[in-house]
Amino acid sequence: NWNMKNFIADQIELIRRQVGDRKVLLALSGGVDSSVVAALLIKAIGKQLVCVHVNHGLMRKGESESVIDVFRHQMEANLIYVDASERFLTKLEGVADPEQKRKIIGAEFIRVFEEEARKLEGIDFLAQGTIYPDIVESGTKTAKVVKSHHNVGGLPEDMNFELVEPLTYLFKDEVRACGLELGLPYEMVFRQPFPGPGLGVRCLGAITRERLEAVRESDSILREEFAKAALDKKVWQYFTIVPDFKSVGVKNNARCFEYPVIIRAVNTIDAMTASIEQIDWPVLSRITDRILNEVANVNRVCYDLSPKPCATIEWE
Ligand code: XMP
Repeated sequence: NWNMKNFIADQIELIRRQVGDRKVLLALSGGVDSSVVAALLIKAIGKQLVCVHVNHGLMRKGESESVIDVFRHQMEANLIYVDASERFLTKLEGVADPEQKRKIIGAEFIRVFEEEARKLEGIDFLAQGTIYPDIVESGTKTAKVVKSHHNVGGLPEDMNFELVEPLTYLFKDEVRACGLELGLPYEMVFRQPFPGPGLGVRCLGAITRERLEAVRESDSILREEFAKAALDKKVWQYFTIVPDFKSVGVKNNARCFEYPVIIRAVNTIDAMTASIEQIDWPVLSRITDRILNEVANVNRVCYDLSPKPCATIEWE
C-alpha cells in the first residue's frame, strides 16, 4: 500500500542503487522542491550529496541564511554557499526591460552554478526537484509566452551528468508531505511561491540597490504582519513591489520626493487566474505605518486591487 513512509523508503533504496558510492550535485534554491530533494538525498547518501546554494542578491530577507541554517547546521549537509550578489547586480545595472532582466538572471545563474560544478571533482549525477506537474506542463505547454519563467537550476548543457529525480511522480501537496516526513521545518515546506528571478522582478525597471533594499525591507515587514494576523496560512501569495518613479510627500515639515511601495496579496488555485484577498483595514493600516516608518526612501504605500486577468500576479 502506498503511503509517504513507504515512498521515502523505496526512494532511498532506488537512489542508493543508482548512485552507489558516487557523488551527486544539487542546486539548492531553498524552494520547496529542491529542499525536499536535498532532504531525501541526505537521508539516502549523506555527504555524497553536494548542495550548491547561489545567492543572486535578489533573495528575500533572511532567506539564504535560513537555507544555510537548516541544511548546513541542522541536516549536516555538504553545502557550498556562493554569494554572487555583486555579480548579478553588476550584470543587471541599467537594464530596465523585464524580459531582458529575466534572461540575464537565468543565464547568469547557470553560469555561476556551472563554475562551481567545474571546481568540484568526480561528480557523476545532477539531482533535480522535478515534480509531476513540471513534466505534464512541459508536455502540453502552449507556444504563447507571457513571461519567460525560469526555475533556478537549469542543466549546464555540455556537462554529462546523469539525472537523479526522485520526486517526478509527486504532486505539490505530496512533495510537502514528504518534506515534513523528512523533518524539514514547516515554514520551508509551506512557504509561498517565490519566482526564480526573485525580488529582481519586484524592483521594477532598472534595479538599484536603494530600491532593492526598499523591496526587501517592505516584504519582510509584510510577511511579519501577515504571520501575526494569521494571513500567512490563508493567502496564497503576498509581496511588495517598488516602482521606478517617485512621488512628492512631506516628512518632518519638509518636502520629500521618494518611492512608493505597492502591496499585492492574491489567491489562486493554479496561478492562471487570481483574485484579490480582502485584507482587513486595520491590518493594512498597520503595515502601511510600519513601512512608512521603517523603510528608507519610501513615502507612500498603495494596495493593488487588480485580479488576474488582466493583471499578472507579478508586475514584471
Ligand atoms: P504571473 O506573474 O505570471 O505569475 O501571474 C504566476 C506565478 O508564477 C510565479 N512566477 C515565477 N515562478 N519562475 C518561477 O519559478 C519565474 O520566472 C516566475 N515568474 C513568475 C509568480 O510568482 C506567480 O506565483
